[in-house]
Amino acid sequence: ASVRTQQSAARGLWSSRWVFFLAATGSAVGLGNIWKFPYITGENGGGAFVLVYLGCILLIGIPLLMAEVMIGRRGRQNPDGAVARLAREAGASTKWRVAGWLGGLTGFLILSFYLVVAGWALAYVPTTLSGGFNGVTGEASGELFGALLANPLRLILCGSLVLAATMLIVGLGVRGGLERSLRFLMPGLFVLLLALVGYAALNGEFARGVEFLFVPDFSKLTATSVLIALGHAFFTLSLGCGAMMVYGSYLPEGTSIAKTSILVALADTAVALLAGLAIFPLVFGNGLEPGAGPGLIFVTLPIAFGQMPLGQLVGGLFFIMLVIAALTSAISLSEPSIAWMTERFGMSRMKAVLTSGALLWLLSLGSVFSFNYWSEYMLFGKTFFDSLDYLTTNWLMPLGGLCTVLFTGWVLKEQTVREAIGIGQGGLFRAWWLLLRFGTPLAIVLVFLNLSGLI
Ligand code: PFF
Ligand code: NA
Repeated sequence: ASVRTQQSAARGLWSSRWVFFLAATGSAVGLGNIWKFPYITGENGGGAFVLVYLGCILLIGIPLLMAEVMIGRRGRQNPDGAVARLAREAGASTKWRVAGWLGGLTGFLILSFYLVVAGWALAYVPTTLSGGFNGVTGEASGELFGALLANPLRLILCGSLVLAATMLIVGLGVRGGLERSLRFLMPGLFVLLLALVGYAALNGEFARGVEFLFVPDFSKLTATSVLIALGHAFFTLSLGCGAMMVYGSYLPEGTSIAKTSILVALADTAVALLAGLAIFPLVFGNGLEPGAGPGLIFVTLPIAFGQMPLGQLVGGLFFIMLVIAALTSAISLSEPSIAWMTERFGMSRMKAVLTSGALLWLLSLGSVFSFNYWSEYMLFGKTFFDSLDYLTTNWLMPLGGLCTVLFTGWVLKEQTVREAIGIGQGGLFRAWWLLLRFGTPLAIVLVFLNLSGLI
């Protein structure tokens, strides 16, 4: 254990458990909550989808989040190295490191489209502040968003700015900058969302919005919806791609993994539900379609900002916060692959950052062009952007998660895990352990099989 402590001291640790909580929440809360959750809920029929999603968070997300943080803290390396090390200690094959590197790859792919969407939010900051949305109707707002998507140069510029900011922060080392920005971001985002919900309650069709979100209609649920709900539970909690492992690797000993994980999941869920409560009343109140797709919040919210008192300011602030929330997630998406390049191949941090930055930039062009030049090219009926999102979120993340739970539940020794997770050996541990060994892998496999039409 003393070797571990020395090594971890050399890599640096979060300065307190509070900072770890902030960083993990910063990773979890992002575009997934505010942009993606409302639009996929809209596309998948509302309440029943939300219910399945909440079930996935509780029964799959939280147990896996605990496992990932534990592996990171115990392994004290990038995900690939951490899993390999624990495998070696358990006398098992280091092939299990797939649970680590697959995640790094998935995170890299996700980041390539994540930064494009963060670029949309960035593009909306000056438009909102300068009053570009004042008095817009639903139709006009849709046209403004369409004009943004039709302009590849503007998309590339905004995406590149987000990428540069991410890489700069990651290049300087994650902790300092992150710590400072997160202290005001999370509370600020929360307050703004509450204000938006208040506005939607007064000016939108609030009852209809609430009904859409919370009253389940199971006839709207398809096998694909269930897969999407599962995938989104992974996406929103930053699971199955090494992010939480890498953050766990900086976690001081003695912090409760269980408590922190539950709090992170609660905060994340609260932000998503608030976003839904702000959006859907406005969607119905302005005659928009809940299933409008990825543009949903970018069409809906400007209408509200264009009408409310101080809307330019409130809206500008909102999109700034959305960009920062996206940045803190983007950092955690890039950290696993960068830690991997430096620790496994001995690259300097700068070189790793520049290499992955260049690759990400190239790959992000594919997503940018999905909305203009290449909007007619379809892979399996989806644009490049949609296919990348579908493949990474709904297949690669759950697959990475499956490897991780199997590794934790069946390869590591119960004794080791019990020590590492630190929740004693009572009912809580037993429940988690059973869920992790049987419930979680079974649920993931069933969803996969169901979707492939095999059951
Ligand atoms: N959890 C982030 C969100 O909801 O926006 C997205 C994300 C971050 C996914 C980090 C995966 C990850 F590793
Ligand atoms: Na999230």
